[in-house]
Amino acid sequence: MANLYPMPDYRSFINYAHRGASEYAPENTLLSFYTGILMGANGIETDVQRTKDGILVLFHDGSLTRVTGEEGAVADYTYEELRRFSVKRGHLSDKICTLEAFLQNFCHRDLTFAIELKSAGVEEDTAALIRRYGVEEKVVITSFGFQNLCAMRKAAPELKCGFLTSTVTDERLAEMKELGIGEICPKATEITAADTVRWHEMGFNVRAWGVANTEIMLSACEAGVDGMTVNFPDKLTAYIAEKWGTKA
Ligand code: G3P
Ligand code: CA
Repeated sequence: MANLYPMPDYRSFINYAHRGASEYAPENTLLSFYTGILMGANGIETDVQRTKDGILVLFHDGSLTRVTGEEGAVADYTYEELRRFSVKRGHLSDKICTLEAFLQNFCHRDLTFAIELKSAGVEEDTAALIRRYGVEEKVVITSFGFQNLCAMRKAAPELKCGFLTSTVTDERLAEMKELGIGEICPKATEITAADTVRWHEMGFNVRAWGVANTEIMLSACEAGVDGMTVNFPDKLTAYIAEKWGTKA
């Protein structure tokens, strides 16, 4: 069966800076994304939610507390109100970023964008922004919510989609095939080389998530995945350089 997406080699393996280089900089901010690029990431992963006044912003948690110290959730505030808060990581801080600002900053770069839908009902507006900035070919829409991906496939059939899951079943893979969802994103600790070979043979791209440390990063690489999200893209860049050498 033909692959929906290209098979991996050193040119197509994606080192996604997860919420940017979030081990080093405030997650899901421009500072974190640029840090990831400086560390050699060729992809950026981020999370989309909607503010009270309908703006799409990049934020992971259901609560503002862990990274901003504020109470409530993204949806409780307008974007202008959220701009008053700071996202912190150690001594560094930055502002919550909109999806539009993200695309303005990075649309012209040679990067792949894994854009995760963190809530339902953002599909149409997310797709509209992706089209406005002309990055359809560079984006993979992801979600743990299978229904969110079904909605996205309807809203924007031209966009690639990836299903994030802890449990890969043949039933789900069959549904994905039916819907044209070409990327399976299993938890890194659950992936074996045999799984990867099988999923590739079925035509899926395989991208790992939940890479908590370098040991897991190495085991997922050795299992033959096509890419992964890492909070420490510098370490994955170093591994890739050692394994494949640097690009000419
Ligand atoms: O790589 C996808 C990953 O971001 C999923 O987990 O919790 O960081 O959104 P989470
Ligand atoms: Ca995410």
